[in-house]
Amino acid sequence: MREATASAHANIAIAKYWGKADEAANLPAVPSVSMTLAALTTTTTVRFDASLGEDELILDGNVVQGKALHRVTALLDRVRARAGSSERAHVLTSNDFPTASGLASSASAFAALALAATAAAGLQVVAGEVSDLARRSSASAARSVLGGFVRLASAERGADFLAAEQVAPAGHWDVRVVIGVNAEGAKSVGSTDGMLHTQRTSPYYAAWVSLCPGLAKAVEEAIASRDIEALGEAAEHSALAMHASAMAAAPGVVYFNAATMACLQTVRELRRDGVPAYATMDAGPHVKVITLPEHVGVVDERMRATAGLVRTIVSKLGGPAVVRVSSAGP
Ligand code: PMV
Repeated sequence: MREATASAHANIAIAKYWGKADEAANLPAVPSVSMTLAALTTTTTVRFDASLGEDELILDGNVVQGKALHRVTALLDRVRARAGSSERAHVLTSNDFPTASGLASSASAFAALALAATAAAGLQVVAGEVSDLARRSSASAARSVLGGFVRLASAERGADFLAAEQVAPAGHWDVRVVIGVNAEGAKSVGSTDGMLHTQRTSPYYAAWVSLCPGLAKAVEEAIASRDIEALGEAAEHSALAMHASAMAAAPGVVYFNAATMACLQTVRELRRDGVPAYATMDAGPHVKVITLPEHVGVVDERMRATAGLVRTIVSKLGGPAVVRVSSAGP
């Protein structure tokens, strides 16, 4: 029996992914660029065991079944097919941040699972193959396999391989993120449902898709030249345009709550006071503020003073997903 334990960080997209070129193959319609976040980590142990009748999933000490288990089994099935094995697996996973906060990201979860499962199955794979495997479960997870600044290109329908690539390592530029938690609890509409509904019904979806390549390019140029203003402006533009396309769906998908708007106001006030602070929001109400190390104190203080904010988490950039293999049992 072989067992492997992998850790992967969550990531925050600066240029967002929203929309699929191919639903079944889970290929993104737009390019995205992210930062890997050291402060949010998922650790997952996979053990293949011939005595098991079904895959088992334990998340933060609780047995999980239903949709979450099916998504895990789908990834494990791909690993089993490649390894020529039919052994079921025991999967033990935990987050170092409260799972119920709504921050529990599928990105760190599927990146850690893809890495642990391939290692436990004894497959010799490179990071790109782990990223491609994770991407089939959650496109943002492809990016969490790598550290620092990471890009995931868009793809054409029918493409059979798509992996994320590193744009620059974490040491290239010390950017910080202040995560404002605005509500506890799971999100109302999952990202897959939200983006498919947007692409089927929003008149703004086509405009969003045509905007994305330019924003991804602007973000990569801002990273190369360490230009916080250019990075931040592109990040806010991407987030607000993504949410605008979702809000224009029929019926509209609204992830914001009152605290989201209050946090956006705080970020604009910070900028008016000369502080480089830029907001980005994913498929939920939380506002993540991109800033530089010397401004983290004031950004954190003003965010915490914002009406409706529950708490903050401050993060540096993180490294790539890592794995350790051990033999278990006879
Ligand atoms: O990979 P998914 O299905 O979790 O979708 C992620 C979508 C966003 O978080 C909103 C944007 C992104 O690029 O991470």
